[in-house]
Amino acid sequence: MRQFHKSTKLDNVLYDVRGPVVDEAARMEEAGMHVLKLNIGNPAPFGFRTPDEVVYDMARQLTDTEGYSASKGLFSARKAIMQYAQLKNIPNVGIEDIYTGNGVSELINLSMSALLDDGDEVLVPSPDYPLWTACVNLAGGTAVHYTCDEQSEWYPDIDDMRAKITDRTVAIVLINPNNPTGALYPPEVLQQIVDLAREHQLMIFSDEIYDRLVMDGLKHVSIASMAPDLFCVTFSGLSKSHMIAGYRVGWMILSGNKRIAKDYIEGINMLTNMRICSNVPAQSIVQTALGGHQSVNDYIVPGGRLCEQRDYIYEALNSIDGITAVKPKAAFYIFPKIDVKKFNITDDEQFALDLLHDERILITRGGGFNWQEPDHFRIVYLPRIEVLKDAVDKLADFLRYYRQ
Ligand SMILES: Cc1ncc(COP(=O)(O)O)c(C=O)c1O
Repeated sequence: MRQFHKSTKLDNVLYDVRGPVVDEAARMEEAGMHVLKLNIGNPAPFGFRTPDEVVYDMARQLTDTEGYSASKGLFSARKAIMQYAQLKNIPNVGIEDIYTGNGVSELINLSMSALLDDGDEVLVPSPDYPLWTACVNLAGGTAVHYTCDEQSEWYPDIDDMRAKITDRTVAIVLINPNNPTGALYPPEVLQQIVDLAREHQLMIFSDEIYDRLVMDGLKHVSIASMAPDLFCVTFSGLSKSHMIAGYRVGWMILSGNKRIAKDYIEGINMLTNMRICSNVPAQSIVQTALGGHQSVNDYIVPGGRLCEQRDYIYEALNSIDGITAVKPKAAFYIFPKIDVKKFNITDDEQFALDLLHDERILITRGGGFNWQEPDHFRIVYLPRIEVLKDAVDKLADFLRYYRQ
């Protein structure tokens, strides 16, 4: 049976992603201009509030959380996450298989650093949440992108995935629900990915940070629940579901066939110990946050803010001549397509810069998500409808005259 080994390049991790469009927006703001930022998935600035009980609970525990915790995290937090894993039918998870982190971000980095040696390949979606590609490559591996297909609800193209597997492929990364497309993968699609991973003995990394932000009455299924015989790592956290991106708390869950990953788990434990522990006050509210009524549910049903904003942005963007977008099912992003012929667009960064200069709207170009064509951009639809309406009106005006 194949074994997974930890990387020898653990010390050479750099992170330096900063786009010129964001820099330009910062410069404009410093010059006193107002820029509407539709570029980051940070709920709090848009008026989404952390549930009161969570803030209360943290305040109450602050004096008890002055010291380090165990490196994997507080027992209470991990117990609550373990119960969460059970509710999602993730198999073979004990308390020792749960790690808290300073957001999912830290754990993505850690999980890739612990895994990869030079030349190891990891299948990463295109478009992706770019931290995945960055972390794979910085850890010494090679991110090999598989296409998600806009014609099929942005689901992963399984044939493309299969075609990209080589004898150096060690893992498949899944972002479900997806950032930037807002797609939610149904069990049929997940099953095909499991079959592929089983056939080629690949690990599965599933980033499920938006799993509690699913609309239209749909249900999120964790791929790990379908793969008890494979080794899976599932990521989630409270940044989005509890509107506390600033508190920095997320987790990862190891599940399934852990025997084949003993050496890898040793690497994970080493790195986890090296960073001592994640933010302890933030860990202290995990149990309260995950228990009982989930206030995020009020946002994602018809009449709820996120659902209404999603419906609005979807209709409004599609009514612009030259823009089409697939309806997102989850999270708070939409990834519209631009008719590049109509607008003569060859450079999506230039498009984003021109929109910023002319309309003071900051979006993220598709290339920022490792999308290879200059024909997409991402909008974060967290702002209220009146703000989104203003942005869409400006975008429509801009596209009336814009030619690159
Ligand atoms: C898909 C995905 N994974 C992970 C993260 C990072 O989340 P955290 O705040 O837990 O670090 C984000 C944040 O936008 C995300 O979109």
